[in-house]
Amino acid sequence: MDESRKRAFIEVFHSPPELLASAPGRINLIGEHTDYNNGYVLPAAIHLRNWFLAAPRPDGLVRLWADDFREEETFRLESISPSETRRWANYIKGIFWVLQQEGVRPQGLDAMIWGEVPLESGLSSSAALEVSVIKGVAALWNLDLDPVRLAKLAQRAENDFVGVQCGLMDQFIAVFGRKNSALFLDCETLDYTHYPLNLEKAGLVILVYDTKVRRRLASSEYNQRRREAAGALEVLKNKGARSYKDATTAMLRNSRAELDDVLYRRARHVITENARVRKAVELLEKDDFSGLGTLLFQSHDSLRDDYEVSCPELDFLYEVGKEHPGCLGARLVGAGFGGSGIALLEKQAVDGFKKRALSGAEERGFPRPGFHEVRVGRGAEASRIGRS
Ligand code: GLA
Repeated sequence: MDESRKRAFIEVFHSPPELLASAPGRINLIGEHTDYNNGYVLPAAIHLRNWFLAAPRPDGLVRLWADDFREEETFRLESISPSETRRWANYIKGIFWVLQQEGVRPQGLDAMIWGEVPLESGLSSSAALEVSVIKGVAALWNLDLDPVRLAKLAQRAENDFVGVQCGLMDQFIAVFGRKNSALFLDCETLDYTHYPLNLEKAGLVILVYDTKVRRRLASSEYNQRRREAAGALEVLKNKGARSYKDATTAMLRNSRAELDDVLYRRARHVITENARVRKAVELLEKDDFSGLGTLLFQSHDSLRDDYEVSCPELDFLYEVGKEHPGCLGARLVGAGFGGSGIALLEKQAVDGFKKRALSGAEERGFPRPGFHEVRVGRGAEASRIGRS
C-alpha cells in the first residue's frame, strides 16, 4: 500500500488505521452465464484490486470515505438503508446488513476504500469491493467465517441488498484467486481446483479490451436470461436431466417441440459452455493454449448467437482477434452487453493488436477502447498494520 493512503486516512478520521484488506477483480477464461445455472466456470483473479483500510469504533457508527470519489457516507448499524446518491456505499452497507442477518454482530468502524478495477467494465469491481470489506471486517472483529461462507455472504449482499441477481463466480474467485492459476469451480457442489496458468512461460498475454460501453448489470436483461435458462431447464428435467451439468445436446434436441426458439438457444449455450469449460481444463493441464484459444472463440459465438449478450463493440474485438496473427482466442467476459472482453495473445502480437483495434473502433464510431495487460493475481487478504 502506498503510504499516502495511510496519511489520507489519518487526515479524514484523525486516528491511524489498524487493518488493511484487499480483494482482486477477475477475468473469466471460460464458463459465462453458467454460474447461476449451477454449472462450471474457470475464472482467474487479476492484479487490479480494491482496497479497504479501517480502524474499529466502539459506538456502532460506520464512517466510510471513498478516496477515489472523495465522498463520505455515515450510517448506524441499527438502521442500515440503501443510499440513493452514493451507490458505492451500498456494497459496503450490504455486507454489514448481511452479517446482521446471519446473527453476526460486527461493531462500528472508520473505513477508507479505493480501487484499481475499472468500474462497470465487466471485471467485477463490485465483488472486489464486497469481498475486501467482508474480509477486512471479519479480520478486524475476529469473526469466525470460513472462506466459502465469506464468498456466499458477499454474494447475498449483492443479491438482497444491492438488488443484483448475480451468481457466485465473482465473489468466489475474489476470495480464492491464486497467483498464476485459474480456478475451476463447480457452482453446484462448490468443489474447486486450481490449475496453473503458465502464460509467461508460453510467451502469452491476456489483454483486457474495455469497450467503454456501460450497461448496468442490474439491468433487466441479465435477470431475463436467468429466467429463460431456468425455464428451459424445467423442460429438460422432463427428459431426465437433473441439472444443466448432466443435460446433453441430445436431450435438448428431444425437447425441440416443447421449447420456443429463444429458450432452445439459451439452453444450448449453457449446455455447450459447460462442455467447453471441462474441455478447457483438460487443455490447460497440457498447456495447450492454442486449443484453449479456439474454445474462447467458440464461447463468444455461443454468447453472441445463442445467449444474445454481446454487442457490436464486443463482436468487433472478436473479429479483430480472428484476423490478427498471434491472437489465439478472444471473447466477451462477464455479463456482456458492453463492458470488457479478453484476447489471448502472443506477446509480440500485443502492440499490433491494440493499434488495429484502436483504428478499427474509430472507423466504426465506437468509444475509444481501454486496454489492460492483466497479470493473474492473488485472492483476498487482510493484515493488521503497525501504528508507526
Ligand atoms: C456477472 C455476474 C456473475 C456471472 C457473469 C456471467 O459477472 O456477477 O455471477 O453470472 O456475469 O458469467
